[in-house]
Amino acid sequence: MNGNELRVFEEPAVSVAEHRALMSRFPTGVAVITALDAAGVPQGMTCSSVTSVTLHPPTILVCLRIGSATQLAVRQCGAFAVNLLHAEARVTAELFSGPAPDRFGAVRWIRSESGLPWLADDAFAMAECQVSRVIRHGDHEVIFGRLVDVVMRPGTPLLHGMRSYSVWRPSFLAGAADVEEMSA
Ligand SMILES: Cc1cc2nc3c(=O)[nH]c(=O)nc-3n(C[C@H](O)[C@H](O)[C@H](O)COP(=O)(O)O)c2cc1C
Repeated sequence: MNGNELRVFEEPAVSVAEHRALMSRFPTGVAVITALDAAGVPQGMTCSSVTSVTLHPPTILVCLRIGSATQLAVRQCGAFAVNLLHAEARVTAELFSGPAPDRFGAVRWIRSESGLPWLADDAFAMAECQVSRVIRHGDHEVIFGRLVDVVMRPGTPLLHGMRSYSVWRPSFLAGAADVEEMSA
């Protein structure tokens, strides 16, 4: 092979570790997806696979592991909330991705107008979505949600990349003094 041909891989071409390493190089904001299960109990998980799909109709998507409590709850209630975490909410991101048995017992949450769990102290934006389409792919479901309400507050986002959390710091807009400080 001289390097110019397309390389066609047999499965598995890329290991889980390589896949994770690749995506760790693509930092994102951090959300907690919440929903009510069939018994009306709130469920939620930390999620970075939040993507805008279309403006018309207003649609976003999330990718949730099949069998997780949150994925099941979203499918059961046909709706979900996207709680975009602010820079001070790292502990909540860890809570909703960790083994704690009662995640909602450790945060303050309220019900949105339509009853979805809203992490009132940790989210600086919250969107309510009605499930409009679901695509199963491997071990995850790609769940499309039509935006039906958004609430936004002042704040800056929590970020996740390179396997760690960080905070928003727009260096390209910073003044010369800030740039000097960052390179010191
Ligand atoms: C920063 C971050 C982003 C994550 N994004 C996703 C995601 O997009 N989809 C997903 O299924 N799990 C994601 N996870 C993993 C879930 O948060 C984790 O597996 C959680 O425990 C799932 O909830 P469960 O234990 O109730 O199933 C992410 C974890 C972290 C720390």
